[in-house]
Amino acid sequence: MQNKIQRLLKEVETLAAKSVQEAEEIRVQWLGKKGVVTVLFDEFKNLSAAEKRVLGQALNALKTAAQEKIAALREVTEQAPGSVSGDCTPPGIPHPFGARHPIAMVRNEIIGIFKRSGYTLAEGPEIEDDWHVFSALNFPPEHPARDMQDTFFIRQGDNAVLLRTHTSSVQVRKMETQQPPVRVICPGRVFRNEAISARAHCIFHQVEGLYIDENVSFADLKQAILYFAQELFGADTKIRLRPSYFPFTEPSAEVDVSCNICGGKGCNICKGTGWLEIMGCGMVDPNVLEANHIDSGKYTGFAFGMGIERIAMLKWQVRDLRLYFENDVRFLQQFATAL
Ligand code: DAH
Repeated sequence: MQNKIQRLLKEVETLAAKSVQEAEEIRVQWLGKKGVVTVLFDEFKNLSAAEKRVLGQALNALKTAAQEKIAALREVTEQAPGSVSGDCTPPGIPHPFGARHPIAMVRNEIIGIFKRSGYTLAEGPEIEDDWHVFSALNFPPEHPARDMQDTFFIRQGDNAVLLRTHTSSVQVRKMETQQPPVRVICPGRVFRNEAISARAHCIFHQVEGLYIDENVSFADLKQAILYFAQELFGADTKIRLRPSYFPFTEPSAEVDVSCNICGGKGCNICKGTGWLEIMGCGMVDPNVLEANHIDSGKYTGFAFGMGIERIAMLKWQVRDLRLYFENDVRFLQQFATAL
């Protein structure tokens, strides 16, 4: 038996398999119920105690060698190309998680608040004509916003083509395709011919709101804005409306919210006033309704418009507008867990 074990030990070393199946056949042949090693163990039981002492160790060594060899054959065949059970692709390169842009986060939050109040989303083109950006919104011909200094013109003259300077143009697009009731929220990019600085940029984002129906009043406007401000800045937030002027609303107002940094006591963010300006608003001027074929005798409405960058700056105390456009990951990463 000693010789047989030695011979088998050598044979184990030469065992080879080309597939998982072959490796399994070898296992049955050697370690299965009627396998070579199993049979030897059966025979071992009948040996005398003296013989057992001599052969026991060798037999165990053979078993271990066969087990290890077969395990190695299985592993190699499983990883072989074409093997059904093996995965021969290299591991992928992990991509680090990104973060949402703060402007996108605030835009989505604003849209979410108004959607919950029954507004639907409307969008319009960034490249516009004079009618939708100015004339239909009651801008007089000599209004300075129509000037090259404020507006990027693609073509000037009677059929002017320009980059929209505000999302109020989407109001017009909506009114010309839909009779009241209209209740829309219009987010988008706007463009102004401004020198870039910490407080101004030539591209920024606005959200416009428009609500037209019978009997819409200034009180409805105030309540809509109060609800919005409290959803965005917290339940304790107060609002203040200051009289203002826009060509497309009458009366018009600018809206301040109580400073969410100092709680209204006065700090350097609110410049000691306790208030932060967040938007413009007003009752849609009857001229605008009429220009868009809506009966101003029957319908009234309100509109409002706000800058998303401004709101994001107030929310996170970002002090330089340019940071939003530079895509510096050190800035963007700070918002990875913001919402
Ligand atoms: N379009 C104005 C702007 O760009 C913002 C605005 C003010 C929009 C009052 C409105 C509004 O709808 O009623 O500054």
